[in-house]
Amino acid sequence: MSEGIVTASYVGATILFILALGGLSHQETARRGNLYGIIGMIVALIATISGITGNLGILVVCLVVGGSIGLVLAKRVQMTEMPELVAILHSLVGLAAVLVGFANFMDPGRLSHYHGVELTIHDVETYLGILIGAVTFSGSVIAFGKLSGKISGNPVLLPARHWLNLILLLVSIWLCGMFVDESAAGGGTMPLLIMTAIALTFGVHMVMAIGGADMPVVVSMLNSYSGWAASATGFMLNNDLLIVTGALVGSSGAILSYIMCRAMNRKFLNVIAGGFGTTTGGGGPSVEEQGEVVALQAPEVAALLLESKEIMIIPGYGMAVAQAQHIVNEITKALRSKKINVRFGIHPVAGRMPGHMNVLLAEAKVPYDIVYEMDEINDDFPDIDVSIVIGANDIVNPSAQTDPDSPIAGMPVMECWLGGTTIVLKRGMATGYAGVQNPLFFKENTRMLFGDARSSLDEVFKNL
Ligand code: TAP
Repeated sequence: MSEGIVTASYVGATILFILALGGLSHQETARRGNLYGIIGMIVALIATISGITGNLGILVVCLVVGGSIGLVLAKRVQMTEMPELVAILHSLVGLAAVLVGFANFMDPGRLSHYHGVELTIHDVETYLGILIGAVTFSGSVIAFGKLSGKISGNPVLLPARHWLNLILLLVSIWLCGMFVDESAAGGGTMPLLIMTAIALTFGVHMVMAIGGADMPVVVSMLNSYSGWAASATGFMLNNDLLIVTGALVGSSGAILSYIMCRAMNRKFLNVIAGGFGTTTGGGGPSVEEQGEVVALQAPEVAALLLESKEIMIIPGYGMAVAQAQHIVNEITKALRSKKINVRFGIHPVAGRMPGHMNVLLAEAKVPYDIVYEMDEINDDFPDIDVSIVIGANDIVNPSAQTDPDSPIAGMPVMECWLGGTTIVLKRGMATGYAGVQNPLFFKENTRMLFGDARSSLDEVFKNL
C-alpha cells in the first residue's frame, strides 16, 4: 500500500473513531457508534499491517493468539464482571507502552537514526511512554483486584503519602535528565529501570489509597491514562494514528473522570490523593442496625403497584447480579398498559461501571424515553407514589446528606424517601459497595421485599 493510501486510511480511521465517540454518547446511537469504531479499527489494522516490511509471520501469530484470547474472554465474561475486564484490559495497554518503550530504547539503530535534539526528544518520548505505561499497568492491576474483590476496598493510607508521591515525582524528573544525558553516550539503562520501578510503585500506591466508594473515578481515570500511554507509544513509533487515537481515549477518559467526580461531588485531585471511602469494598454484612424494617410479600407489593399512578424504578448493582432487567421490562409493560406512569431513575455511579444500568435496560428493550438521569428526576420524588429500588444501596442512602463522616458524604443520591412508599428489593441487610449501613431501610415509608431480585420480581409479575 502506498504511503498516500496509508495516510488517507489513517485519516479515515480517525474520523470513524470520532464518529464512534459521538455515537456512544447516546443510547439510541450507541450501536451505530460501536459499528463506526469496529470499521475504524479494521481500517487502521489493515493500513498498519500493510506498511510492515519485516516478518509478517510473527505478526499473524501474535494477532491470532491475542485475538483468540480476547474473543474467549469477551464471550465468557458476565455482565457483572465487565468492570474488572475493562480494568485488566487497561493494564495491557500500559504494559504494551512499557514494552514498546524498552524495545525502542534497546533498538541498535536508535543512535544512528537520531542525533542531537532529535535524540533528546525521542528519549523523552520513550521515558514518558514507559512512565505513563507503568503507572497505568500497576494501577489497573490493583483496580482489577479491588473491583473483583480480590483486594480489600479499604484505602491503604501510608503516613506522609502526599510527601512520598511528591518525592517520587521529583526523583522521576531528575532521573529523566540523567537518562537523556547517559543515553546519548550509549548508556541510560539504570535510570530507566529505576524510574520504571518508581512508576510501578506509584501506580500501586495511588490506587491502593482510594476507597471503595471512589472507584468509579479511578476506573475512568485509568481509562484516560491508558489513552495517554497509547499516545506516548504513538510518538515513540512515529505513528500518527496511534497518537490521535490515544489522545481521543485519553481526553474522553478525562472528561468521564470529571463527570464521575461531579456525580460523586468530589474534587478530582482529592480523589487522586486518596483517602475517601474508608470501608470494605464489594459489600458485606450489616454493621449496625438502626431500628425495625418492615418486610412485604410479593402479592402485597403487586397490590401497592396497582394502586399507584406514578412509579419510579431505581436499579442498582443487584439488578445486574440478579439479571433482573428482562422481568423489570415485563413488569413495566404490564403497569404501563394499566395507564400507570412508570419511569426509571438512573444514578451516574449505579452498578460498577459508567452506564452499567443503561446497558442492561437497553438489552431488555426498556424504552429510552422513560429512562431518566438522576438530575432530571430527583425533584419529582414528592409526586411519586411508589419507588422500587432494585438491588441498589449506596445510591439511595440518605446518610450521604446527613452524616458528614460517611465515606459517601456529599455524594448526590436519589431522594426516593421523599415519595409515598419505597420498596427495596435485596436479599438481606448487607451493605453496598461503600460498606455503610443505609438508614433508608428503617424509614417509616420503606418496605423491604427480601430475596433475589429476579425471583422476587417474577412473583410480583405473577401477582400483577
Ligand atoms: P451497591 O451499593 O453496591 O448495592 C448493591 C446491593 O444489591 C447490595 O446491597 C446487595 O444487597 C444487593 N444485591 C446484590 N445481589 C442481589 C440480588 N441477586 N438480588 C437482589 N439484591 C442484590 O450498588 P449501587 O447502589 O448500584 O451503588 C453503586 C456503588 O458501587 C457505589 O458505591 C459506587 O461508588 C460503586 N462503584 C460504582 C462504579 C461505577 S462506575 N458505577 C464503579 C466502581 C464502584 P444484598 O447482598 O443484601 O442482596
